[in-house]
Amino acid sequence: MNLKEVKNSAREKMKGVCAICRECNGVWCRGMVPGMGGAGNGSTMQRNYDKLNEIRIMMKTLHDAKDPDVKFNFLGKVLSSPVMAAPITGLNYNAGGAIAEEDYIDDIVNGSIECGTIAMIGDGGNPDFYRWGIEAIKKVDGKGVAIIKPRENSEIIKRIRMAEEAGALAVGVDVDGAGLLVMSTMGQPVGPKSVEELKELVDSTKLPFILKGILSVEEARIAMEAGVAGIIVSNHGGRVLNGTISSVETLSEIAAAVGEKMVVIADGGVREGMDIVKFLALGAHCVLVGRPIIWGSVGGRREGVKLTLETLKNQLYQGMILTGAGSLEEIDKSMIYRD
Ligand SMILES: Cc1cc2nc3c(=O)[nH]c(=O)nc-3n(C[C@H](O)[C@H](O)[C@H](O)COP(=O)(O)O)c2cc1C
Repeated sequence: MNLKEVKNSAREKMKGVCAICRECNGVWCRGMVPGMGGAGNGSTMQRNYDKLNEIRIMMKTLHDAKDPDVKFNFLGKVLSSPVMAAPITGLNYNAGGAIAEEDYIDDIVNGSIECGTIAMIGDGGNPDFYRWGIEAIKKVDGKGVAIIKPRENSEIIKRIRMAEEAGALAVGVDVDGAGLLVMSTMGQPVGPKSVEELKELVDSTKLPFILKGILSVEEARIAMEAGVAGIIVSNHGGRVLNGTISSVETLSEIAAAVGEKMVVIADGGVREGMDIVKFLALGAHCVLVGRPIIWGSVGGRREGVKLTLETLKNQLYQGMILTGAGSLEEIDKSMIYRD
């Protein structure tokens, strides 16, 4: 099985919900939430694609970075690359039934490990989604991260305990899920967090705490002051708020403000190796990948997830050779071409 076959198979199974376009630019699937697209007219998801595509990287071939090191130390665990599977739930309604939720969780947790990296598992309106994710992480001795919806703090803390019990590497909250009406209609209210509420969550656990859905220096600083170990610069793949900015537009100032003290993870539109180079050049330490992992799982199950992550890792390696970066730390803003 190769990646082309995986994508062809996924395209067949996802007819009507995702066309797996050559350019995953949020146009075909605009407004398809639930589904695979971006919210509203899809402009946030489209902006993720457009702004990332506008960034140009200088090519360099007169150097000695012949065998770049792509390994990444994430909170003390060495990963094969700075790429992790993003937390994703609700496959039954988002992927048009192309894959069962439990199968997807199993694929991303194990497919990621088989590629030497890890997955983040998510939380959704059906409480079983999180429980299944936790069970999958437990089975692999805690090699994964649990991202919980911004429920009431007491509910989040219950789920943090489950992650601790499973031995998870870290826990977190996708605070940008604060307006998800679908959660409320399923009797699982969510909302924004005050600084005090955030501190209560961080202090409730010894596990590193990650905050997903930060798009401004101001909120990155609040997270840092609350003791958060890492932030995910993200707009949730354009799914929660139409008309907002993309992570690559704000990443470099966020990384400059907090990047020395916290892990800066970022996502939104990573589809090939050079996208990873761009995110790292802007100051991210590592990236998450969303939709391509769904295609991998639907089209090739665990093997498809592994193949997707392996391909990104190999493309990153090639990209580093052709941009003169011998290590991830050497990927910096001097590589970005400004006209
Ligand atoms: C179908 C779908 C479901 C998602 N579910 C969740 C979720 O449960 N929790 C979460 O934090 N993010 C969720 N996300 C957002 C992803 O974690 C990630 O931020 C986003 O997909 C990255 O953008 P990309 O798909 O362009 O790579 C979801 C995204 C998609 C496409």
